[in-house]
This record gives sequence, C-alpha cells and structure tokens, in this order.
Amino acid sequence: MDERLWSAAAAVLTGNDAGGWTRAAPQLYPHQWSWDSAFVAVGWAHLSVPRALTELRSLFAGQWANGMVPHIVYDPAAPAEAYFPDAARWGTGVAAAAPDRPTSGICQPPVHALALAHIAEVADRARGSAGRPGVPNSGAAGPAGARGDAEAVDAALTELYPKVLAWHRYLATERDPQGSGLVSIYHPWESGTDNSPRFDVALARVEVGDLPPYRRRDTGHVADPAQRPSDTEYDRYLWLVELLRRAGYADDRIAATHPFVLKDVLFSAILVAANDALGRIAARIGAPAADRAAIAGWRDRGRAAVDACWDPRLRLCLDQDVRAATPVRCRTVAGFAGLVAGGDRRSELVAELTSPRFAGDPRMRWPVPPSTSPADPAFRPRTYWRGPSWPVLGWLLWRSLGEHPAAAALRAASLEQVRTAGFAEYVEPFTGEPLGSPDQSWTAAVTLDWLAAG
Ligand code: SER
Repeated sequence: MDERLWSAAAAVLTGNDAGGWTRAAPQLYPHQWSWDSAFVAVGWAHLSVPRALTELRSLFAGQWANGMVPHIVYDPAAPAEAYFPDAARWGTGVAAAAPDRPTSGICQPPVHALALAHIAEVADRARGSAGRPGVPNSGAAGPAGARGDAEAVDAALTELYPKVLAWHRYLATERDPQGSGLVSIYHPWESGTDNSPRFDVALARVEVGDLPPYRRRDTGHVADPAQRPSDTEYDRYLWLVELLRRAGYADDRIAATHPFVLKDVLFSAILVAANDALGRIAARIGAPAADRAAIAGWRDRGRAAVDACWDPRLRLCLDQDVRAATPVRCRTVAGFAGLVAGGDRRSELVAELTSPRFAGDPRMRWPVPPSTSPADPAFRPRTYWRGPSWPVLGWLLWRSLGEHPAAAALRAASLEQVRTAGFAEYVEPFTGEPLGSPDQSWTAAVTLDWLAAG
C-alpha cells in the first residue's frame, strides 16, 4: 500500500467535501455532477461507507419525477458566477423537475448502481476483515460506524433501490422508445465526453439560432483555453440547451424534433453494467420478481445492442447518429463499450485497447487509454476529450476487465500516472503533463479504489 498516495487522494475528497456531497473539482466544477458523484462514492466507500451512501442520497435528492437524474445538482449557496451555465440558464421550472433543488435539464451516464453495489461490497469486505492491518476501511480506517453496519447498509440499499430503478426505467423507456437497447442522448454533455470527435458530425449540423448572450466561465479556470472546447462548439452546446428548454424537457417532443440525437454506445454499455449491479442489489434486498425480470431484460437487450454496434474495420463499438441514420466512424475510448457491457468481443477489444492505436502507442508516457486514438485524424493531445487520458475512464475499463491479465497492467500504469501527474482532471498522453483542473474528485476517488485493490 502506498500510504502517501492514499493520504493525498483522501485529502482531495475531504478538501472537496461540501458536507454531504462533493464538488467535482474545487474551482472549475463547484457543484455536484451526476457521474462524477458516482465515481466519487466509489472512493468515499474506502474512507467511510456512510459518507459514500450520503453522496448518492444527495444526488438523488435532485432526481426528477420522471426518473431522470440531472447531470448537475447545483449548490444554491455558490454564487451564480461560479459556473456557467448557471441553474437559471436551464429554465428547469417544469413539472417533472425536483421541486426543491436547482438542477440542469439533461443527464449523464448511469454509474450509480455500480457505485451502490460497490459500496455494499466494500462494507461487506471491511466487516469480514475488521482491524486487519493494511486493509483500507478496516479497523485502521476508523470506528465501526465508518464501515457501515450491515443493517444500515441494507437500509440504505432499500431506500436507494427504487430511485435507481426509476432512473434505469426512464433510460430504458423515455430514452429508448424503440426498445433498441441503446440510449438516446440529446446533448454531447450527456455523454460526459463533451467535445469527443464522436460528436463532430452531428454537432456540425446544428444551426445556432437566436441564442441569448452568455459568458463562458470554464476557460477562466484552466491555464490554457485551448484545452477546453472551442467557442463554436460552445455556441452549439448552448443552443441545444435552449432547444431543450423550449421543448419543456418533454422527451417525446425532443425525440421528434431535436436536431442532435445519438444512440450513445458507451452510455448504453454503462447502463448494461449498471443493470447487472442493480440486479444484484434487487436480489439482496428481496425486490419483487417483476422488477428483477425487467432489470435482467434491460441488461440482456442492452448487451446484445452494444455488441451489434461492433465495427469490424475499426474494431470498436460505434455510436449511432439517429438523425443521419449512420454509425459514427471514429476511434475513441467509447469504442470499448463492449468491454463495459460484457459479451463476446472481449479478446478483440483488449487487443485493440493495447494496440498502437490506443494504450500501446509507443509515444504514450504510460500505457493507459487516451480519450481519442492518436491514429484518429481528430486527435489533439491537449484538448479535453480529443486525446488526453482520463484516469476515470481507465478505471471503468480496468473494472470491466475483471481478472483478465490486462487489468493488472492497466492498474499499475494508471497508478504510475497519478503518482506523477497528481489528481489531474486529464493528462497529456505523451508528456504526462497534468491538464484541466487539479484535485479532480473522481481522479482521487478511483486512485483510492486502485490502491485498495493492491
Ligand atoms: N462537462 C461540461 C462542462 O465542462 C458540462 O457539464 O461544463
């Protein structure tokens, strides 16, 4: 166990702790982000099981009546100028929105059930190994309460389960009216991989109309604005927000009229893994058989659909552009969706992941997956999701690899990366330079989990 790295990672979570929820980053992201918060809960579990559960509870307090978990739950105490778009820009005073929490009007990948199942597993393990030296979250990590007693964990699972189920049901129905097994997204921000080249073609079709004026804040927080999305991209992002607002966030209207609709293969794969986790939780708490059948059905349908997105030429799984009715041909980390969903493509996907087109590019400082392949024409090593490596996605792939030998190598390389680059939001893949925000909560959180797995 690398005690120094452990303490440093724990200090980032503690430092970003706003009391029951965690800022995604100290300056750049001063609110609670949906998928960030799920990864963050994975890390908190190793420090305090009750705190990890509180993280998810806080996020789900912003859940909408239709089941959607918004991508940002705003801190009402933060000044409006702390982040743009601020809560007012979304105009989410619609019937479906949570009445007492300012939120955005879009969502992000559903990592939450993975986090919840993980918290329960960590709590079980910690009870089994209480007080064993060197085992995180055992006796050394704090009093019994910090590990979560069995009854408290089961009570939290029972409380959160119907909320997570409603969230998955929303995605499986409103975001997939065709029953295809693939989730529709209405905005690149919903993918979590905002300016990935995955969205270039679909976004270029978006014609910006009478966009109310705005001032970006993100570029003021990073050393070099070239690391962030361009102003042209940002105008289109804001125009899509405007259209969603004008449609009253009604999924049926959006599905019929919105110019940007993609079947996001990585989002869909995360939902498969999340349904797998939710199925385990449902069994543990004795949920009704009808629920369990629905969850297993969504999981199996999703897994088959992700598998059908396989492109034999690129050797990756591809998003589907609904408006153009074509697959999106580019080489990005989302292409490894088949690993996340599970299924029969594992050896081919691991071969591609470790190939010179991804982690095996000899120029890579560490063999970790870049967000966009250096072999893709859109690759930019310093620009947000167009090349830099994101430790949190390395963690997702590592977790998906299970006992595969490639997992150990990915974990070792990822830990080397954080030892050198710190808890950066993202990292220049060739030089190892830390980019974006320092002290990003989810980078620290997955570091704790990697260390705990050692
Ligand atoms: N990730 C986006 C941002 O940078 C949207 O949440 O603000």
